[in-house]
Amino acid sequence: MERVSKQQLAMMPIEFKLNGQAVVGRSDETIIETAKHYGIAIPHLCYKEDMRPDGNCRACVVEIKGERVLAPSCCRYPKDGMEVTTDSARAVASQKMVLELLLSDIPEAEVPAVQQGLLDLGLDWRASGIRGALVACTGNTGCKFSATDTKGQALALAQHLESRIALDRPVTIHLTGCPNSCAQHYVGDIGLLGLKVGEDMVEGYAIYVGGGAGVERGLGREVYAALPMAEVPRRVEGLLRLYLAERRGAGESFLDFTRARSLDALRQGAEAALLGANR
Ligand code: SF4
Ligand code: FES
Repeated sequence: MERVSKQQLAMMPIEFKLNGQAVVGRSDETIIETAKHYGIAIPHLCYKEDMRPDGNCRACVVEIKGERVLAPSCCRYPKDGMEVTTDSARAVASQKMVLELLLSDIPEAEVPAVQQGLLDLGLDWRASGIRGALVACTGNTGCKFSATDTKGQALALAQHLESRIALDRPVTIHLTGCPNSCAQHYVGDIGLLGLKVGEDMVEGYAIYVGGGAGVERGLGREVYAALPMAEVPRRVEGLLRLYLAERRGAGESFLDFTRARSLDALRQGAEAALLGANR
């Protein structure tokens, strides 16, 4: 029987799906290269054509059906029957987050062009009292311990809050994907600890309030035990609305405000503040 050479093997067609479309790649061609042939652009920073892909920046991550963690498309090869999505909400949130972090150190002369580029990507360089104080650990796009997509969900949370609330002083929000707490949820004004929630094990969070460091040191208290992510933005909004409505002027921090109240008072007050806002 005639043997198939390594070179012939590399040239063999690989049939897989890209954003729902049937495509044909090769076993020696990465997902980002096949995507390019089909006119699908995937953001990338450390990958350059004809250079060895090292997979360092993770700006090019895509979702592969059946895989828990997003994959860097610049150094991942397709397999027959694979289903790859480059533009799911999860993949896009992660791609944007990486770009946002890596673009933070640029020469002065390039600033206007980069600002415009960020706006084109749906990002913003202006720090708000919410986004400027937001911290998220790696999350399940890069860490096997994480129960949740902390970075993508941090972005979704910031977008929700910024569209509804204007803070005149920052409130720190820390999202962490597991009890290792790389983002230190227990010392944030608001801390979110990633969990799987309910019988369906959907991604969600426990919410803590009133954690602090240094002279304000103290661990946050758990105000909500296990909420699906779909409910988290609304609950955090309620806590912030309550703070804005009942604080003793702008001089009272969220930390002081929450530490002065029982958990029941915070839960009930947050619910009432949300109802009031939706009337
Ligand atoms: S907190 Fe947990 S999930 Fe997040 S980066 Fe650290 S180990 Fe990973
Ligand atoms: S482009 Fe940097 S990891 Fe793929």
